[in-house]
Amino acid sequence: MTDHGKPSSPQYNPGKGEGSPVGIALLGHGTVGAQVLRLMQEYSDELEHRIGGPLEVKGVAVRNMEKHRDSVPAELLTDDAFGLINRDDVDIVVEVIGGIDYPRELVLAALKAGKSVVTANKALVAAHYQELGDASDESNVDLYFEAAVAAAIPVVGPLRRSLAGDRIKSVMGIVNGTTNFILDGMDSTGADYDEMLAEATRLGYAEADPTADVEGYDAASKAAILASIAFHTPVYASDVHREGITNISPEDIKAARAAGYVIKLLAICERFNNEEGQEVVAARVHPTLVPRSHPLASVSKSFNAIFVEAEAAGRLMFYGNGAGGAPTASAVLGDIVGAARNKVHGGRAPGQSTYANLPIADFGEVYTRYHVDMSVEDRIGVLAEIAKIFTNHGISLRTVRQHQGEDHARLILVTHSAREKDLEDVVEELKQLEAVRGIESVIRLEE
Ligand code: NDP
Ligand code: HSE
Repeated sequence: MTDHGKPSSPQYNPGKGEGSPVGIALLGHGTVGAQVLRLMQEYSDELEHRIGGPLEVKGVAVRNMEKHRDSVPAELLTDDAFGLINRDDVDIVVEVIGGIDYPRELVLAALKAGKSVVTANKALVAAHYQELGDASDESNVDLYFEAAVAAAIPVVGPLRRSLAGDRIKSVMGIVNGTTNFILDGMDSTGADYDEMLAEATRLGYAEADPTADVEGYDAASKAAILASIAFHTPVYASDVHREGITNISPEDIKAARAAGYVIKLLAICERFNNEEGQEVVAARVHPTLVPRSHPLASVSKSFNAIFVEAEAAGRLMFYGNGAGGAPTASAVLGDIVGAARNKVHGGRAPGQSTYANLPIADFGEVYTRYHVDMSVEDRIGVLAEIAKIFTNHGISLRTVRQHQGEDHARLILVTHSAREKDLEDVVEELKQLEAVRGIESVIRLEE
């Protein structure tokens, strides 16, 4: 250490000094990139005051230059992203391209060249969390990714900074705008799934391949990032149990409505002690029934909401715009300002923290609740046969409702919290029971 308490490492970043320009390379000029460029231009005077030096865009890299000739000044437009990154006058690289392999090469090249990186790319961060964090640590530069989770909602920053002194127990909520937009439309207006998906794509909410949204991959990436930061443990998208919304039918939505619930795609990240008493972490994404009185039930359109539960802070809720060009650009700009301040004044943003390195639980170890809707024979003893299966697996029933059909009964059971593995086994046994004509739906439930 020096006399001033600063590390004596040659890598310590003393800053370029007040008034120095900060060079930006913008990689991507699509839904998000175009808004980032617009806001950097529109707010340039204010941003200069906030940073302590002007932001100077050195280039905008795209795939097809022809598409962008009218909207990007000719002297900035390039299709040579690596050339742009490696310019001496570029201090910060902003990656808003999407995908995994190609942006990984770009981001690693940038970090290795000593450039700070701001990215909105959750797929990339969730696939290469540790590698990217290590590369930024080695070069002593910043890696920011606020926009990668829930677009405009500040949640990565609060978890990394404001809650860094607390112990997070769980993080859960709605983290995908496209699926919330679809489910909300189907629930509130009876809209058609395909129409809502087309509209979400038109509005710029959906990923380039919307399968990522509707099959839960996007939410799983965000869950992995949230769990990694919250539990100081590397959690990858492949560690997250994932189910999308493509199996949710209009009938499921109507039945949920009739029973006082709404279906939401939830991401749930938690730490708990497993049966061996070992502390583990788990992250999962699946359609979930939420009571209409629950705050998450009123999260409409493409909005997102995230609950954090911490030991000392208690419960916190983050709510806002979860997708779209301008809301995402707001988060990207916030990160650019943070990285630029450090380039001007010196110092570094909080680096990656994975010291806890907790084991990842199997999905079967997680505790959930089930809402099971089935058609059964309408005769004496059926309910007792069904209840016995639950009892044999140590699962207690919370509510039982029955509706009369013409030649059958519709039975709707809600369980108390139980191990996912036991619940799965129960459903398999129910399917084999002669008295059960069909399982209409099995949806997990949160209250
Ligand atoms: P778009 O598809 O709208 O834009 C992608 C941009 O990247 C385009 O300008 C495209 O160029 C450019 N690009 C693609 N391939 C290359 C390449 N090989 N070299 C250089 N440029 C390339 O995506 P979005 O703006 O919607 O998303 C960008 C990122 O932001 C993604 O990681 C996404 O997950 C994330 N994000 C998006 C949100 C949203 O609401 N849209 C919200 C939060 C995060 P060209 O135009 O020439 O094809
Ligand atoms: N496709 C994503 C969503 C964009 O719908 O939430 C925001 O990350």
